Amino acid sequence: MAASTFHVTTFGCQMNQHDSERIDGLLESLGYAQADSASEADLIVLNTCSIRESADRRLETQLGNAKRFKAARPGVVVAVGGCWAQSLKDEVFERYPFVDVAFGPGQVDQLGQFLLSDSVRAQGYFEFGGFTGELPMRSKQSASAWMQISVGCNQKCSYCIVPSTRGLELSRPFADLVAEAESLVARGAREITLLGQNVNSYGRDLRPERRSFSELLAAIDAVDGVDRLRYTSPHPQDMRADVIDAHVELDSVCEHIHLPLQSGSSKILKAMRRTYDRDRYLSRVAMIRGAIPDVSLTTDIIVGFPGETEADFQQTLALVEDAQFDAAYTFIYSPRRGTEAALLTDGLVSAEEASERIGRLIELVQRVATARAQRFVGRPVEVLVEGQSRTDPERLRGRSRHNKAVNFSGVAVAGELVEVEIESATSTSLSGQATLVASALR
Ligand code: SAH
Ligand code: SF4
Ligand code: F3S
Repeated sequence: MAASTFHVTTFGCQMNQHDSERIDGLLESLGYAQADSASEADLIVLNTCSIRESADRRLETQLGNAKRFKAARPGVVVAVGGCWAQSLKDEVFERYPFVDVAFGPGQVDQLGQFLLSDSVRAQGYFEFGGFTGELPMRSKQSASAWMQISVGCNQKCSYCIVPSTRGLELSRPFADLVAEAESLVARGAREITLLGQNVNSYGRDLRPERRSFSELLAAIDAVDGVDRLRYTSPHPQDMRADVIDAHVELDSVCEHIHLPLQSGSSKILKAMRRTYDRDRYLSRVAMIRGAIPDVSLTTDIIVGFPGETEADFQQTLALVEDAQFDAAYTFIYSPRRGTEAALLTDGLVSAEEASERIGRLIELVQRVATARAQRFVGRPVEVLVEGQSRTDPERLRGRSRHNKAVNFSGVAVAGELVEVEIESATSTSLSGQATLVASALR
């Protein structure tokens, strides 16, 4: 099965996107070249997600395509990785007999072993424990880079499939991460985003020396050339003063915190096993705002969890007003195989009710976010340039330290830091004119 070109389709979160970068790197190191599309590739890789039912459905279309491409060109190898593959394990081959190799998020390296082995039998690899961050980096360089600091999750959120697809939490060694940050900078990165399911519990499992997430932030901030440092996601339960202070004390740590809420009702939070209640969440927000007044705060919210009444939902709406989020990702609850919440039968919220609620929530989130964004109008903000604007080829786009998308006019190249005077703001983006270019800024 000599294959020479590959194509990776990625579903799901930033963790999966990062895993896909390492799949690219691994395959390039084995001599494979990127194909423009799955229809042309000798090796088709689907890196899957199973967080909600909608993710499963999108995947089915891609699997159907892969099957067709393979029928047209029988030598094609189909590989399926990621959380969906992990949640089904060998059932993947029963349901989709054209799949040659399946692997979970902890076994990405086995894809390489499989390709080298000339195996004629379909193979599945589903152990936990491997860090994709240790695999070769892909050749493409970028000013923004991800770094995987841990795998897995020790929380037991009752709706969530992730602990079963990514296993227990394991932190990568501290020194490896500092070395990786140095090598990312050497390859042109100036913004680093630390990834984990629960980043602020990083390091508690390390031996002989335990480390803390705030120590890691300080060590990466100290790497020469790291201009911006971000992380996602922290758990409200573990959001403590040392991490909040890092935003104030360390220049590179950006003025943005993504703090997943899930629900504004203490009753629902309890049923979700989120380990904090409404007041505790709001006290974290107050602590953050007290230390970093101008911070951008973003969140994740689920509506329609079993047992959520209109009164519970009203508590979520009220909390969005209180916390003044700059953005929120909103989801309709989706029962997931093997999770505790999937067994709940009382107080189920109908699809119509859930979609009516999410509509109201989105409207409020947009109103609050639009109002919040006005604080940037008339202000100069530092923008890391990403390239051409998606809507207007005459303009450029980038991101501010507050993690707002910024569209602007001016002359700059991707990877530069520019100063942009903001002229208008919507819930999702800012717009303005560049005034100063990079080197002048730092
Ligand atoms: N570990 C991270 C992210 C988990 S997945 C965290 O805890 O923040 C990203 C988001 O997907 C979650 O925050 C949650 O809002 C949403 N999500 C997870 N499982 C879900 C489900 N079964 N139905 C709907 N949304 C879900
Ligand atoms: Fe899922 Fe909860 Fe872990 Fe996030 S913290 S990955 S929502 S179990
Ligand atoms: Fe991410 Fe989806 Fe897995 S959100 S952790 S790829 S289930």
